[in-house]
Amino acid sequence: MKKSILDLRRMASEHEPITWLTAYDYLTAKYEERAGIDMILVGDSLGMVELGYDTTIPVTMDDMIRHSSAVRRGAPETFIVGDMPYLSYQISDESAIANAGRFIKEAGCDAIKLEGGGAEICKRIKAISSTGTLVFGHIGLTPQFAAEMGGYKAQGKSVEAAEKLLAEAYRIQEAGACAILVEGVPEIVGKLITEKLSIPVLGIGAGPYTHGQLLIYADMVGLYDNFTPKFVKKYAEIGQELLRAFTEYCDEVRSGQFPINGVHTYKISDEEREKIEKLF
Ligand code: KIV
Repeated sequence: MKKSILDLRRMASEHEPITWLTAYDYLTAKYEERAGIDMILVGDSLGMVELGYDTTIPVTMDDMIRHSSAVRRGAPETFIVGDMPYLSYQISDESAIANAGRFIKEAGCDAIKLEGGGAEICKRIKAISSTGTLVFGHIGLTPQFAAEMGGYKAQGKSVEAAEKLLAEAYRIQEAGACAILVEGVPEIVGKLITEKLSIPVLGIGAGPYTHGQLLIYADMVGLYDNFTPKFVKKYAEIGQELLRAFTEYCDEVRSGQFPINGVHTYKISDEEREKIEKLF
């Protein structure tokens, strides 16, 4: 049965780990739902994983809505979070509310996520939450702010940085977020934020103490090989398996081993076959 925010809160309070993976298409979502995943994130990592950009910056709202809708069709019984892409929420409260609403109305998402913990971002969280839309915050290594952070670097590695992250997490909670994702921080910082907040805290590269774990699916199945973050565990080597299958297919077509008459071909009556043979 589809989880609600109440289920996620209960799981967090009972220390039942919450499972979360990204998906960007119908088929992946279908398999994740079959596996019993608790939540799916349609991340703006879409840009790098599926669309071939170097960063998440070029991803548009239309990209996100199209892919979120496909994920919803693949996983009708799963709690889906849509990720707000760069400049879809930074400009004004009004445009942030309108764009968040598209995820809910057009794509059938259950919640949205947005990056950052500064005062302006918290204003957006407050505005979107006031419409009844569930908002996930996202702090730590936030890819949309990579330029400001000097690249994709772990965050919260000093007491000052950890205190700053905790202050952001409190601000996001006070602004009305229903949950928060912490990315790319030492496990002690993940633990600190999880123990101090009263909303569910999910982690990606934030250690084992958060209420749940998120991974980018294409990393954990060995599909995206441009780079692999330190915190990823590979549960499969699907990229290698695809490579093997595609290479074997090319070899067999070129050598005439595929397709085989009578195995990969349609049946036809002898009578009709004879008539067609006369057409040659
Ligand atoms: O876009 C995404 O998949 C994300 C994760 C990196 C947390 O936001």
